Amino acid sequence: MRIAMIGTGYVGLVSGTCFADFGHHVTCVDKDQSKIDALLSGKMPIWEPGLDGLVAANVARGRLSFTTKLSDALNGAEAVFIAVGTPSRRGDGHADLSFVFAAVEELAKALDHPVVVVTKSTVPVGTGDKIAALLKEHKAPDGCSVASNPEFLREGAAIADFKHPDRILVGAEDERARQVLAEIYRPLFLNKAPLLFTGRRTAELTKYAANAFLAMKISFINEMADLCEAVDADVQDLARGIGLDNRIGAKFLHPGPGYGGSCFPKDTLALLRAAEEAGVEQRIVSTVVKVNDDRKKAMVERVAKALGGELAGKRIGVLGLTFKPNTDDMRDAPSIPLVTALVERGAEVVAYDPVGREQAEPLLPAIHYAETPERVAVDADALVVVTEWDEFRGLDLRELATKMRGNALIDLRNIYDRVDAERAGLRYFGIGRGRT
Ligand code: UGA
Repeated sequence: MRIAMIGTGYVGLVSGTCFADFGHHVTCVDKDQSKIDALLSGKMPIWEPGLDGLVAANVARGRLSFTTKLSDALNGAEAVFIAVGTPSRRGDGHADLSFVFAAVEELAKALDHPVVVVTKSTVPVGTGDKIAALLKEHKAPDGCSVASNPEFLREGAAIADFKHPDRILVGAEDERARQVLAEIYRPLFLNKAPLLFTGRRTAELTKYAANAFLAMKISFINEMADLCEAVDADVQDLARGIGLDNRIGAKFLHPGPGYGGSCFPKDTLALLRAAEEAGVEQRIVSTVVKVNDDRKKAMVERVAKALGGELAGKRIGVLGLTFKPNTDDMRDAPSIPLVTALVERGAEVVAYDPVGREQAEPLLPAIHYAETPERVAVDADALVVVTEWDEFRGLDLRELATKMRGNALIDLRNIYDRVDAERAGLRYFGIGRGRT
């Protein structure tokens, strides 16, 4: 099948590449000439493990191509995916749909045959109806369908998530759309991935509900971690103790400095705005948002407490800046409020991140950047683990301790063991691991 993918951001590029890998012919189109030029020369605009190889292989097989010309991408296409950004609208938290609507308008004018228009971007409930109306208004050929096919991939694990999804969700209002999407996903369906058909509005809302639920699990375990600290219990064991109950599930119960990234913060807010407009209170999700915002702001106190309350003049080594490992993405990363507060309170910060430095530098200009985790430890009063990159797990704590001038290890991701840290001569401060 021929597919056009509008937007070469995270979701568009990964989905387009994986569809090509399934054997479809995919043309990815983006307005940004420099992005397309880079892709044509084999350079990825995002850092995602395995993506460059998969793009190269499918380009070589002639199934994946990139262009800035929408009309080229539409040539013979049966399905057109919209995967442009839907950032938070400045000031009010609503999803900004201007890129989506601009793409649809342009699409309507460029089409010379009916297609199934599929939104992959995360869009508020009812957006599909607006897209259908826009197609009509701008005189798209008769017979076009509009479907919703939200994406559930995670950054850093995007290809594996796309190819082995827990489910594929298709919201459609007509048989043709259902057939086209079933055909596109046939390789996964054969692989036993559940293909769930719902109405279009339900699919749109399900995406937000999924992200809000996952965010809720994280905020829940973070508050449990606080309680564990107060009553001398261990949140890691608690998480396992509840997570082994299949009704709860073990995933997304890792306590930390609060969730970040391009999805949970923006999607929870957008869900709240949509609910407000519908006149329906969402007390759980609004509490989740507040718990998370407060948590990110409170992380600086943990560092201060470990250092006896005073941060001025202290040298703090930070391990990891990106919002999670295996990505260079700094959007809404918990490191931003933490490092900013450390600097404001007079600390000197030296940070190391395996791939995030380029994205981090403009956001955190007032700190030093080290080339290795070991350099971060030199003369540090405290080390703070903010992102759980694998390479931090194997660090030699004894070696780090000898380089430091202080001895506090604040492990905001619980990647180390207290006993190992103490043996290395460090004072260990984890999250929710007993009284601190
Ligand atoms: C999230 C969802 O997991 C995907 O299913 C969804 O498709 C995606 O948003 C999206 O809507 O596009 P992502 O933002 O890439 O994916 O990252 P996650 O792995 O979900 O992590 C989000 C944040 O939660 C990170 O800051 C992470 O450190 C934090 N987290 C996650 C925890 O603090 N504890 C956990 O147990 C899990």
